[in-house]
Amino acid sequence: MKKKISVIDAKNCRVNNEKYTMVTCYDYTTATIVNESNINIILVGDSLGMVMMGYQSTVPVTMEDMIHHIRGVVKGAPQTLVIGDMPFGSYNVSIEQAITNAIRMMKEGGCDCIKLEGGLEMADTTRAIVKAGIPVMGHIGLTPQTISAMGGFKVQGKSREAAEKLVAAAEAIEEAGAFMIVLEAVPSVVGKYITNSINIPTMGIGAGVDCDCQVLILQDMLGMYADFTPKFVKKYANLRETMIEAFNTFHGEVGSKVFPSEEFCYNTKVEGLE
Ligand code: KIV
Repeated sequence: MKKKISVIDAKNCRVNNEKYTMVTCYDYTTATIVNESNINIILVGDSLGMVMMGYQSTVPVTMEDMIHHIRGVVKGAPQTLVIGDMPFGSYNVSIEQAITNAIRMMKEGGCDCIKLEGGLEMADTTRAIVKAGIPVMGHIGLTPQTISAMGGFKVQGKSREAAEKLVAAAEAIEEAGAFMIVLEAVPSVVGKYITNSINIPTMGIGAGVDCDCQVLILQDMLGMYADFTPKFVKKYANLRETMIEAFNTFHGEVGSKVFPSEEFCYNTKVEGLE
């Protein structure tokens, strides 16, 4: 059985020459499967709004949604570090609101730490949550909660100026006390530039091979989610096809009375009904 890593292990992964992997996960059964694998970290991402609820973006996701899903995942993955994602609006109003909701996520959800999106503007919030005793993972580059302001799901840091702004953001989040930073959808050269500019590790998603660690959305990497596939998604399985095939076989066997065969029936004698 694998050993659960801590946020300190995650923070030290670069010096310890460890390349950790993270996948998203949103329910108990799937968490038990991830827990049995070599994956080190689960993110209960607000991406659940899109892959579990079918929303167009992560914006409508609430604290209640997050806590509900985190609870199941935490039960299913005792050997895996679990990160709870702060949803849009749960930490943007004030520092007090951010601390209150981060504490809720830890107490009611049971996760090990939290993640929040944003650069320079989130440095004070990050610092305050860390000061309250809650480890924070940062998230810069493409930040899906603010896609409206970004003009859509677009690659970030495409100019020298934009890349330098991202470096400044990463430095501010590091200085605020985050243990790791997600870099999403930036050119590989920018992923490398940011990774080399800070002392805490980077967790890449569409940010190139030079990030310290890598994350993928579970439904993307298993080939289940069909609405939209970003360039950075590698499908390690095609579960969508496997599932449709299984559903159709079940449907066909019910039609032909192949299922349920004897082995799946209670053949108990019932008095008076021989
Ligand atoms: O919500 C999420 O799944 C994320 C990942 C894209 C890192 O933030």
